[in-house]
Amino acid sequence: MADTKILGICGSLRKASLNMAALRAAGANAPDGISLDIANLSGIPVYNEEIYADGFPPAVDTFRAQIQAADALLFATPEYNYSIPGPLKNAIDWASRPPEHPFTGKAVGMLGCSAGTSGTMRAQYHLRQVMVFLDMRPLNKPEVFIPAASKLFDDNGNLADDATAARLGDLMAALAAWSKQIS
Ligand code: FNR
Repeated sequence: MADTKILGICGSLRKASLNMAALRAAGANAPDGISLDIANLSGIPVYNEEIYADGFPPAVDTFRAQIQAADALLFATPEYNYSIPGPLKNAIDWASRPPEHPFTGKAVGMLGCSAGTSGTMRAQYHLRQVMVFLDMRPLNKPEVFIPAASKLFDDNGNLADDATAARLGDLMAALAAWSKQIS
């Protein structure tokens, strides 16, 4: 059984997502004792207070329970217009609703792939800002910005770059250590 259970949360819903591919590669390159499950955000509706008034939709219930059960979270976010994508913000918004939310005190890591040169820096700093209000405990380093990511994966979405694989493995190890340190 894994010592540290990490929940992966990807901000892109498309099948050929580079960020989802990187998240899978992070799991594949994690040191022994660390497991990665990946949340499915595709069934989460656009937030509407009137839906919430009738209770959390099933996909949100599942997502909240997965966050609660995880020792740590690993976000993989694309950058959309210098920020985080709507589906990711929407999922966080849903999961954050009262009476209690499962993000408080949670160890969190992040990574991001861009097709261009920025490697999602701006999006990741916006994500960190959201984490302040929700009392998450983001890991400061290593920062994992992956520019020109389409060159690093093969046609099946498998990572084909040893240096990136090593960085992802280091991130998983650091996140597991951080989660133990603050628990
Ligand atoms: C983008 N993209 C993009 N890239 C970037 O580096 N900075 C940006 O501000 C944006 N803005 C942006 C807005 C919108 C609406 C889209 C659809 C795309 C490009 C984006 O990073 C690229 O498509 C990634 O490959 C998306 O991630 P996935 O789906 O491959 O994980």
